[in-house]
Amino acid sequence: MNKKNVKDIDVDGKKVLVRCDFNVPQDENGNITDNRRIVAALPTINYLLEHNAKVILCSHLGRPKGEVNKKYSLKPVADELSKLLEKEVKLASDVVGESAKNLTNNMQNGEIVLLENVRFEPGEEKNDEELSKALAALAEVYVNDAFGTAHRAHSSTTGVASFLPAVSGFLIEKELEFLGSSLDNPVRPFVAILGGAKVSDKIGVIEKLLDKVDTLIIGGGMAFTFLKSQGHKIGKSICEEDKLDLARELIEKANTKGVKLLLPIDTHITTEYSNDYEDKWVESQDIPDGWEGLDIGPETIKMFEEALQGAKTVVWNGPLGVCEFDKFKTGTYEIAKVLGTLDATTIIGGGDSAAAIEKMGLSDKMTHISTGGGASLEFLEGKKLPGIEALQDK
Ligand code: 3PG
Repeated sequence: MNKKNVKDIDVDGKKVLVRCDFNVPQDENGNITDNRRIVAALPTINYLLEHNAKVILCSHLGRPKGEVNKKYSLKPVADELSKLLEKEVKLASDVVGESAKNLTNNMQNGEIVLLENVRFEPGEEKNDEELSKALAALAEVYVNDAFGTAHRAHSSTTGVASFLPAVSGFLIEKELEFLGSSLDNPVRPFVAILGGAKVSDKIGVIEKLLDKVDTLIIGGGMAFTFLKSQGHKIGKSICEEDKLDLARELIEKANTKGVKLLLPIDTHITTEYSNDYEDKWVESQDIPDGWEGLDIGPETIKMFEEALQGAKTVVWNGPLGVCEFDKFKTGTYEIAKVLGTLDATTIIGGGDSAAAIEKMGLSDKMTHISTGGGASLEFLEGKKLPGIEALQDK
């Protein structure tokens, strides 16, 4: 990467503001259900602690829309961090107010303060200059390690970088290394698997990947728009009518480029978007009226598995069925298992596919599981990420 990182800057005895992505899933009682994003921030935090920095952490959690809302407090994150670091993490009760100033004014080397949710500030998502300056005033150095939020041009991800020496953390570096090398220099055959509900979320990435991959596997809800564009009957399955022409064009583009594009050939269908109604398996081109597809079927799993055999690079983003329903998670889980057996570089982006792999205990078998959903997609599309652009060049 051509951006400076924490090792390129003196942090000894300095107050270092670190933007992390602690936007973690929680249950209805606020308990963190997946701490991967917190764990992923530890190498940078530990490096700073070991180098006598005063560590000031900040992050968003959820979308509180510029208002203070207890539901989105970073308290559970502070507790989890304290546990993981075996060290007290003091939580400020505001972002740049009295509490934040008092706590950060009186820090010793090796201490950690976590600011409250940056999105409690109305200026955060507007990249407000006053807020950026106020954040910068708390510290002497800025480190961005929030890969998952690097596609947002907010005060704490970009604005603040104009007012302090700004470098990247180790997580951002690692993410760019893995995601970047898969695109720049993939060992072939290169297979991409794309799922998720909507084609519109993935247009950019499909276009980009069609220039790179040997095989493109499409599953999940977005497959139905492609199937319908080919004149198939999809019942009441999710479909973006305004994207039918585009889906047709993408299939044509794949043909012209010699990319093998695979769509489901059988589908697990039901009558309601639920785990509890009648279900059956049918050919994907003939889904009856009143039924909708919520997962790929066994023949499709077999076909995708065959397409993956021998692959040397695999990028996967998005589930292949509705994983929150037990009956319809089979496709995603079976393909995750196949990935675990491959002798290939396997790169997983996107919360749901990563969560499936975690739940199956297959994380160790993957080369890299990205902490970025939207950010990893935008990166794969070839877009510049403002949170990274704002950092100092090497
Ligand atoms: C994410 O979960 O993808 C990131 O934390 C960004 O969150 P956002 O979509 O609310 O900006």
